[in-house]
Amino acid sequence: MSFRDKVDKRLSRKQKAYEIESLMKNKRSEDYQVIEEVFDKSTLMTIYDFMNKGIIDEIHGVVNAGKEARVYWGKDTEGNELAIKIYLTSSAEFKKGMLPYIEGDPRFSHVRRDTRSLIYTWAQKEYKNLQRAKDAKVNVPEPLAIQKNVLIMNFIGKNGERAPLLKETVLENPEQVFKLILTYLKRLYTKAGLVHADLSEYNIMMWKKKPVIFDVAQSVLIKHPMAERFLRRDIENLHRYFNRKVSDILSVDEIYVRVTGGRK
Ligand SMILES: Nc1ncnc2c1ncn2[C@@H]1O[C@H](COP(=O)(O)OP(=O)(O)O)[C@@H](O)[C@H]1O
Ligand SMILES: [Mg+2]
Repeated sequence: MSFRDKVDKRLSRKQKAYEIESLMKNKRSEDYQVIEEVFDKSTLMTIYDFMNKGIIDEIHGVVNAGKEARVYWGKDTEGNELAIKIYLTSSAEFKKGMLPYIEGDPRFSHVRRDTRSLIYTWAQKEYKNLQRAKDAKVNVPEPLAIQKNVLIMNFIGKNGERAPLLKETVLENPEQVFKLILTYLKRLYTKAGLVHADLSEYNIMMWKKKPVIFDVAQSVLIKHPMAERFLRRDIENLHRYFNRKVSDILSVDEIYVRVTGGRK
């Protein structure tokens, strides 16, 4: 690399650091190393695009830092709170894990198989699944926009403080909450035609006394060859969590029949 190139590179790094810093309202929310990893050039362009369209007005701190995605708190131009989920295009082992949930889904059978395309598909899939779930009247975060690896939803919580997970909540009325989750699962299966496929107390929030189901990128159509197995696993997780919290709880088999309406 020539001296000139080195200088250019340093400059563009500085430029980028500056851009991201001015983008983030709370500069100290993450160290620069992490920010740089999440906001690669393409992601930055996507964010700018959302800003130009008025979909995002401000980005504040990080709500959650997962291995595959980070969720940021933001606001639109009217001050409505947003959850901005950014899938990490640098996540390498991601690809292997995603494939079984993409293959077997006719909605995505024609997509390219390179890592970046798969991650875009993954984000797209989460958006579409949220949309289907919402149309079926399942309580989910409302999907607002999707572009490349960036998904925007309404924020579940208030003033940047996310709603507690089911896992973090002591329920006053576990019976009612359990019943409501089953109702949502039934709607998800029979109306949206989806199986969540990663359901647990970690992917349900409690907000305004109601469960909110989320994290649906891996959710599959009921026609998917593994759908039955995934649904059974979801129900087992739920049963394990609510067992001893709900008296006379239905068995896994009974729940399965209730959720699917006996359909296969
Ligand atoms: N729409 C949202 N509103 C508020 N917080 C959210 C929202 N979506 C996700 N979160 C928070 O971010 C965390 C990670 O989100 P999730 O979709 O589960 O990503 P991952 O794929 O990393 O598990 C959640 O546990 C939740 O606390
Ligand atoms: Mg999750």
